[in-house]
Amino acid sequence: MKIVIIGPGAMGCLISAFLSKSNHKIWLLDKDRERAERINQQGIIIEGISGNWQAKVNITTNVQEIGTADLVIMAVKSYDTKQAILNARSLIGQESAVLTLQNGIGNIEILSEVVGSERVIGGVSNQGATLLGIGHIRHAGKGETIIGRIDGKIPVQIRFIREVFNSVGLETRISRDIKGLLWSKLIINVGINALTAITRLNNGRLIEFEGTRKILREAVTEAIKVAKRKRIKLIYDDPLAKVEAVCEATAINISSMLQDILRKRRTEIDFINGVIVRQGQELGIPVPVNTVLVDLVKTIETSYHLRIEG
Ligand code: PAF
Repeated sequence: MKIVIIGPGAMGCLISAFLSKSNHKIWLLDKDRERAERINQQGIIIEGISGNWQAKVNITTNVQEIGTADLVIMAVKSYDTKQAILNARSLIGQESAVLTLQNGIGNIEILSEVVGSERVIGGVSNQGATLLGIGHIRHAGKGETIIGRIDGKIPVQIRFIREVFNSVGLETRISRDIKGLLWSKLIINVGINALTAITRLNNGRLIEFEGTRKILREAVTEAIKVAKRKRIKLIYDDPLAKVEAVCEATAINISSMLQDILRKRRTEIDFINGVIVRQGQELGIPVPVNTVLVDLVKTIETSYHLRIEG
């Protein structure tokens, strides 16, 4: 089987490195020639909870070199999903499946538009990875990967992914309610990502300070109201307590959005708090806290060049 991972960010590198332990053909597709060249020479370097190790992967910027793939795994930022899958259309053959483990809500819909919903598999990964440099990551946390299709069906490709992932040590199970799962993860990101990006604090700090704890609770409460109105079944009995528990469990993490801000990059705010703002407005549910969070993060990500450095 041929598996292609698109995007050598933290998650793309982690998944590629682990999958390279399988007996399948693994390709990493990059859009940046210099970066691809470097990863080709050095491999992927991993440190952290799975030890210090290196993985050799096939990497290319030329999608034609790969041919068609059995499985394509999207590991680009959500705002690049559309362009990345359009560029990679030649990977899609009769039987190909496309898996997204990206943050936020909207990727399944974007991918479905391009390749057809019957091919698209969604999921969440609770693995933690931080990009330390080109092709160099810290494996910061181990956790389950949960995958499924929006219609709840479990075709053979989903079982294949579960088998391959489990065989290389990426603990994976299947869910029939992927929407509930994605929204449950969304609510965690709504509470943590924007606030850590604005305050430049580690996840754990958000619940240590009265101000951030209050804003976190309000942002999450708005998101829960939107999810409830949409009749989405969240997987946690007490989602607010869960977000605070994740802050504790990932206390020293630098959230993915704060990593983007520190690297002066665009963030995934439109796919996280932006979803709550848009859907809240559509449903007539007030979402003032998420609106402020979105406006602040958007201001930060478009004004790096104007920042006063102290
Ligand atoms: O985006 C992230 O950083 C992660 O999803 C989470 C759970 C907030 C931990 O840092």
